[in-house]
Amino acid sequence: MRLDRFLSGQTAFSRRELTERIRSGAVTCNGTVIRKPDAAVNPGTDAVTLLGKPIVYSEFHWFLLHKPEGVITAARDPKQKTVLDLLRPEDRLPRLAPVGRLDKDTAGMLLITDDGVTAHQMISPKHHVAKYYLAALRDPFRQDYISAFRSGMLLREGGSEEQCLPAECMQIGERLAVLELHEGRYHQVRRMFAAAGNHVENLLRVQIGQLRLPPDLPKNDYLPIFNKDVESALKNSDISEVCAFCAQDYSSYWIKTGI
Ligand code: URA
Repeated sequence: MRLDRFLSGQTAFSRRELTERIRSGAVTCNGTVIRKPDAAVNPGTDAVTLLGKPIVYSEFHWFLLHKPEGVITAARDPKQKTVLDLLRPEDRLPRLAPVGRLDKDTAGMLLITDDGVTAHQMISPKHHVAKYYLAALRDPFRQDYISAFRSGMLLREGGSEEQCLPAECMQIGERLAVLELHEGRYHQVRRMFAAAGNHVENLLRVQIGQLRLPPDLPKNDYLPIFNKDVESALKNSDISEVCAFCAQDYSSYWIKTGI
């Protein structure tokens, strides 16, 4: 593969910027400076550096963002700050897009990738990948939410009513609940609790499949993730394990973050 092509797939620099950097001697391959943009490299075996940093080949790129409230889930927007604006310039690779959607007012785990096929698998209801939310409620949790959510809530969609897929729900505090969803309807968690007569004051997505929002990852920050993490996001989990994780690591989340 051409050196400039290899680098443009792995960095956020334009082809022109890369050509300039290669010509100026900023790129090495197996320890030797390479100044020709069309030099051949083997992405699987050659050790390439740019400005002294190793460039590890990966066909696709994944980031796990701790989305804050107040930022919209979109790749770009003329007026509002988007989740992609939270990436450092060197990570703004072409074709990155958020995997699914979190509302502007919802915080928590959002994956960003340029792997459209796997992203689709993660969000399509057909694949049943579970998403877990921690919800802080206005009024105390009631046990009847469990059977109501399990039997498929009816939510108003436009002029008609649509039945949600069965959802699991468990209480972990007087006004704190964990919810497991297998689909992503507009404002779904908020609308399900509203239909049950309560109100979601704050919402945090804590887990996708078996992939957890790292408790030490601050809001606005993100990490690159790799194959094993993506695979764990596609695996089944269990709501009682998510509840234990939340009770230990996230039950004081909104107190700590001051909301
Ligand atoms: N449900 C909501 O209400 N909001 C989200 O962002 C995700 C699920």
